Amino acid sequence: MSETWIHVPVMAPQIADFLLTNPNGIYLDGTLGLGGHAKFFLSRLGKEARILGFDKDQEALKIAQERVHDGRLTVFHASYTQAPDELKKLGILGVDGALFDLGLSSYQLDNPARGFSILRDGPLDMRFDTGNPLNAEVIVNTWPLSELERILKDYGEERNFNKIALAIMQARRQAPITTTGQLVRIVEGVYGSKRGKIHPATQTFQALRIACNGELEAVAEVLASLGDVIKPGGRAAVLTFHSLEDRLVKNRFKELAHGGEWLLVNKHAIAASFEEIRQNRRARSAKLRVIERVKL
Ligand SMILES: C[S@@+](CC[C@H](N)C(=O)[O-])C[C@H]1O[C@@H](n2cnc3c(N)ncnc32)[C@H](O)[C@@H]1O
Repeated sequence: MSETWIHVPVMAPQIADFLLTNPNGIYLDGTLGLGGHAKFFLSRLGKEARILGFDKDQEALKIAQERVHDGRLTVFHASYTQAPDELKKLGILGVDGALFDLGLSSYQLDNPARGFSILRDGPLDMRFDTGNPLNAEVIVNTWPLSELERILKDYGEERNFNKIALAIMQARRQAPITTTGQLVRIVEGVYGSKRGKIHPATQTFQALRIACNGELEAVAEVLASLGDVIKPGGRAAVLTFHSLEDRLVKNRFKELAHGGEWLLVNKHAIAASFEEIRQNRRARSAKLRVIERVKL
């Protein structure tokens, strides 16, 4: 197995402690990725337990199946927003626990062919599901100025949103923008020599990735349908990696708890330990929130 396939699951022991309340229960891993969390959970679960693993990325599912190699795992090449329908089809009224580990995996980020990386040149792709007709190249070359500005501002929280959108429009008039390297140079041109702590193209790439994959819409949709996924007494855990996602989760969980049918398991988001952050940089921005559906 290549080194680039390594994706270390974030906060796996803490999530397992919160989520795995029934050793032989049914669990949903809404973002299976390379199966890091699923493998860890299965090591703690009984023989009768089941994990239903969803991912939009068929390549990742294939690797996850090989890595986990366990008959208790069933994979679905689908968005986690389809989980309520899939559960219904299987006659499952609700799961004991569900995990949503949002965003992208290191496997996707580190593979230049997937077009997520600022540092490695590749095609301007950024799709979780490579069957999705919308990729970053389509957005960058065909969306109007106002839409480019909107996503850079709303999804990237990019302060230079109008300058970058304009620079993209000007560049694409000369020739189509087809590689991540071209886009990086366009953004660098806007920032000039002024550099902050992060790479100048970080927020532009975040905006395009979120737009291309409909990420925030998917999070909002699954949070709205948690009652169709989790059984009474069951729990949902969400790991977020930026404030836009965390805000959605925090507000929705508050709303649910207010309704009386759900309880916040942790009042405030939980962060990874210093030790974990030291070993896995991806854990530094992780925030974990857990909610429980009250038993009737
Ligand atoms: C952070 S990774 C998950 C890593 C996984 N927990 C592990 O330990 O290997 C996020 C995964 O979610 C997938 N994903 C993103 N949005 C999705 C959606 N709406 N439905 C299903 N999978 C999605 C991505 O393709 C990616 O593989």
